[in-house]
Amino acid sequence: MTHNSNKVVIFLGPPGAGKGTQAERLAREHGLVQISTGDILRDHVARGTELGQQVKPIMEAGQLVPDHLLIALIRDRLAAMGPVRVIFDGFPRTQAQAEALDLLLEELGAPVNSVPLLEVPDQTLIDRIVERGRQATARGEQARSDDTEETARKRQQVYREQTQPLIEHYQRRGHLYTVDGVGTMDEVYGRIVSGLK
Ligand code: AP5
Repeated sequence: MTHNSNKVVIFLGPPGAGKGTQAERLAREHGLVQISTGDILRDHVARGTELGQQVKPIMEAGQLVPDHLLIALIRDRLAAMGPVRVIFDGFPRTQAQAEALDLLLEELGAPVNSVPLLEVPDQTLIDRIVERGRQATARGEQARSDDTEETARKRQQVYREQTQPLIEHYQRRGHLYTVDGVGTMDEVYGRIVSGLK
């Protein structure tokens, strides 16, 4: 199947809600490109680029990287696309990022279609993140430096303060729908797909 029309999906939800997991499958099955700002930044850190060196301590502390760096990064990605068929996972995360994205998408004639908001209880989120760190270590891999209980709680607090206000931003525009993020990954995926526009 070929896909020529624009489509923009934005995953919202706290750290550990399953945004990355679900966005990866949705992208694969719907011919969309996943843009995960966390993955892009971790790649820069791993390669030791100038950007990576700049953001490493910020990510380790569970804080947000400055808006202008993220907005420049997203602008470049979108500019390199033909039809804009994209799933954002981890962006936008602040009001300034959301407003910048609105402008970029307007310029490209690619309005937002759907904003699924994954809802998961706070303690389950922490448990998932700590478990991911534990499993990576058990496999002899390097765990994400922010997958500790302390940093997960910090990330949760940052989400509440800086990202949660975006729920209203997208609610006002009629794009947002809530998804129960607890259950098997297939169950959660089915709920997401059934709400897509
Ligand atoms: P980022 O990588 O975006 O991390 P996050 O939002 O904290 O998200 P996670 O990857 O932990 O969670 P997720 O919701 O994607 O869930 P996942 O599918 O992985 O950001 C990291 C850092 O980068 C930020 O703190 C910041 O410093 C910086 N950054 C990134 N974007 C930025 C931006 N726009 N502006 C500024 N700074 C930015 O699942 C989590 C775990 O749960 C996995 O182990 C998974 O297997 C498991 N799981 C998933 N679904 C289920 C399920 N249904 N049942 C049981 N377990 C499940």
